[in-house]
Amino acid sequence: MTIAVVGSSNIDFAARVTSLPTPGQTVLAKKYSTGAGGKGCNQAVAVARLGVQPTFISKIGDDMLGNQLVATLRAEGLDVENLIIAPDIQTGMALISIEESGENMITVAGGANMTMTREDVHEKQDRLHGCDILMLQLECPVIAIDCAMKHAREGGAKIMLDPAPVPDRVVLRDLMALTDIITPNVTECRAMTGILPEDAQTASEAAKIIHEMGPATVIIKMGGIGAFYSADGQSDLIPAFNVTAIDTVGAGDSFNAGLAVALYKGQSLPDAVRFACASGALATTRPGAAEAAPTLDQVTALMDGTA
Ligand code: RIB
Repeated sequence: MTIAVVGSSNIDFAARVTSLPTPGQTVLAKKYSTGAGGKGCNQAVAVARLGVQPTFISKIGDDMLGNQLVATLRAEGLDVENLIIAPDIQTGMALISIEESGENMITVAGGANMTMTREDVHEKQDRLHGCDILMLQLECPVIAIDCAMKHAREGGAKIMLDPAPVPDRVVLRDLMALTDIITPNVTECRAMTGILPEDAQTASEAAKIIHEMGPATVIIKMGGIGAFYSADGQSDLIPAFNVTAIDTVGAGDSFNAGLAVALYKGQSLPDAVRFACASGALATTRPGAAEAAPTLDQVTALMDGTA
């Protein structure tokens, strides 16, 4: 039994700019880099760096970017046998601008990710029946996500959904009915509930609305404030770790990986959220998405104050 991740794989093209462009404006970047990204890929790599070998189901093209992703995943020690190769369709990519404050703007061209079908997922049903926790995001077609959720639930897995990007209300309602643990950030939380969580009080109000949609466990990622959890009548705001953020791309994915790994290892929800906060915080201190994910030793050192 393990953690399974079903989701997107992209190559990220990230340009560092003084300030983000406004519509119609051209800005000059100081430098740019490319690397593995996509919320699914980022979460899978981060889970592996934290010491658990995940089952990773994702769809890429038979092209240069796809080859780059396969090479990166192999180098990270991930099993690539559950990657689905789509002939004649480009691998997904993301165009990212990051300004000096760490703030970013991301445009995703989903490519092969958006061609993942129910049948693609169905073929991997044995893998999904055999997982303890299934991690999902919403950069692949909802029909494929829904199919993965149902297979994993049949096997008794907990379903952890990162509702990014937030879909329309009807789709969201259907997915939420199959979700055990939901992890929106503040922007996603506002899109889902109409409430922008700024403190424990507003986060609690938003969490109540989300519980009514289905998930028994609500975790709101609040960036520099920390993370709010609500489950079984208990709730708390776990404060953020004090780090110097230079790039927040992929930090939410490292948070989710930390949460999944800690829960998989049997930690209590408050402890798991604290572990997730440390994992997410460390990812903001490095450039890149998947490559910014911390190792178990690094997370432990930050939590112990020995970093
Ligand atoms: O969560 C960050 C990710 O969002 C990036 O790696 C980018 O590819 C987009 O999917």
